[in-house]
Amino acid sequence: MKHLFNSLVRIIVSAPRTIALFLTGAAAFIACSAWAAPAPIILTGADRRPALSLDGDWAPIVDPYFAGIRNNGFYLNRKAQQGDPFPTEYDFSKAPKLKVPGDWNTQRESLFFYEGPVWYERDFTYQPKEHTRVFLHVGAANYKSWFWVNGQKVCEHEGGFTSFNCEVTAAIHAGGNFIVAAVDNTRREDNVPTLQTDWWNYGGLTRSVSLIEVPETFIDQYDVHLSRAPETKLAPHGNDFGLIGSLYLEHIEGWIHVVGGKIGDKVKVEIPELNSDGSGVLDADGRAKFLLVASNLQRWSPETPKLYKVIISAGQDSIEEEIGFRTVETRGTEILLNGQPIFLRGISIHAEAPYRTGRANTDKDAETLLGWAKDLGCNFVRLAHYPHDESMLRAADRMGLLVWSENPVYWALQFDNPKVLAKAEQQLDEEIGTSRNHAAIILWSMANETPNNEARTRFIEAEAAHARELDPTRLITAALLVRGEGNTKIIDDPLGKSLDVIGFNEYIGWYEGHPESADTTQWRVEYQKPLIVSEFGGGAKAGLHGGGNERWTEEFQANIYRHQLGMLNRIPQLRGMSPWILMDFRSPNRTLTGIQDEFNRKGLISDQGEKKQAFFVLRKAYQEKTVGKPE
Ligand code: GCU
Repeated sequence: MKHLFNSLVRIIVSAPRTIALFLTGAAAFIACSAWAAPAPIILTGADRRPALSLDGDWAPIVDPYFAGIRNNGFYLNRKAQQGDPFPTEYDFSKAPKLKVPGDWNTQRESLFFYEGPVWYERDFTYQPKEHTRVFLHVGAANYKSWFWVNGQKVCEHEGGFTSFNCEVTAAIHAGGNFIVAAVDNTRREDNVPTLQTDWWNYGGLTRSVSLIEVPETFIDQYDVHLSRAPETKLAPHGNDFGLIGSLYLEHIEGWIHVVGGKIGDKVKVEIPELNSDGSGVLDADGRAKFLLVASNLQRWSPETPKLYKVIISAGQDSIEEEIGFRTVETRGTEILLNGQPIFLRGISIHAEAPYRTGRANTDKDAETLLGWAKDLGCNFVRLAHYPHDESMLRAADRMGLLVWSENPVYWALQFDNPKVLAKAEQQLDEEIGTSRNHAAIILWSMANETPNNEARTRFIEAEAAHARELDPTRLITAALLVRGEGNTKIIDDPLGKSLDVIGFNEYIGWYEGHPESADTTQWRVEYQKPLIVSEFGGGAKAGLHGGGNERWTEEFQANIYRHQLGMLNRIPQLRGMSPWILMDFRSPNRTLTGIQDEFNRKGLISDQGEKKQAFFVLRKAYQEKTVGKPE
């Protein structure tokens, strides 16, 4: 110890600058890492709560070496003072602004390829209220993020596509406040997703940020859905109406969880338009089940996307929701929507903003993308490969589009790493916890194109079991790879056992064979379950024309679609499709100059809204319903 002390004295005397840096860095690092903040919480319907928006211009500092976390604590947002013994080597007020919500890559040329930490600072004024708790709601921050309010750490989060909420009640004060966030989109092996993706690694506060106020005892999560039980006589509510003439009585059930709630506290659910309400009492875990009986309910479907105002209340707290009621299940190889077989005429969509490109995050983006899907004749969309923005899901509810929502377990994760499974399950908790009341969502997808090995199968079986526990009312699926023997394609991945609906990706005519190869391809399916072809397609540069066998031309892409539709119609248990993909999207893997220019060109529409020939081939098939078994 004595030697250490002597050498320290020697250093102090000889090199003041190193000392200064060391001391401030050490202090800052100790301060932020040592002081653990509470974990963020999940809030169902957070976007339905009154909020103070923090969207707009934020002051960023690009910090590739993450100096701000170590050296002089950017989270303190310190202003240099005259006579300071140490230099303050940052000043948010001098930084050119970045927009939130938004990725940084498409906002500044110099950040287009940037992967690393970026700091964000924003001032705001606030007036605390009695008996009120305040949460910082973050729609999404890609990939790892840390948040401080007035220099006090309030939370950290991992995962780029789900919303989370950090309590700031203790850190916020009357008048002027400031918030500092650090967001790091560095790709790492043990991330979810991991190092390789075929989409741009847009970094930043990519979805809306706001302050939400709730009473001291408040509702954090709730589930309201139509029971799969056939409409029958009234449930046990003590009053027995039985069947009234031709009126059907439907059962709406679910649960409400209340933070700070006591056993026996009452909760209530009301649907004014149906003149129906139900109540329940909290159990020891702060959760209450409820059941409503409703007559004359109009079920939600793509043809009739009826939404009802639903008021969920407990104590001082209440949330007004817009919810549609439908059931979804399988029967053998059929998918039943409201008890009727359905064929899912779909398209895959990335959260790439039309025209401006970058991360999609506005109602307008959602309406444009889903408007094109409707124009295509779709009743279904696969939102790939990660949970999309709530604005997209609300638009799907309104526009009557069924949704496949996916957890970003993409390609080769570290499947034998339990920490990685925990991250995947945390992202599922957030995806399902936030979006469980959207009638549009019928499928939770666990993964895309994962290698067929035991560790992978164990991992996704655990993930699927976790999802079923969270939500037994929807179907579990995944996009599987298929294998081939000669011109026979075989779907027998063991993971299929854990799925309700089997998705599979194939690129006959693009990555293998010619467009015509589809005509002679046989399919062998080892499962008596509904099948969805979750990806097929090929690339085309909008406006590039030539022969049907000239790659990158619109004619080539259209040719692939024609032959694919013929082949797919020969698979008896095919119950849906979501070709790859609605719109061209940015990908770092796509480097063919003059054609791709960092875009995956498999869109049926270019990023500038130009519809390619294949768009019309698929639209014709969807509008004339010549795909899938007639409904
Ligand atoms: C894969 C993958 C997509 C990718 C597509 C392609 O199947 O799931 O994410 O973009 O193929 O190669 O275009």
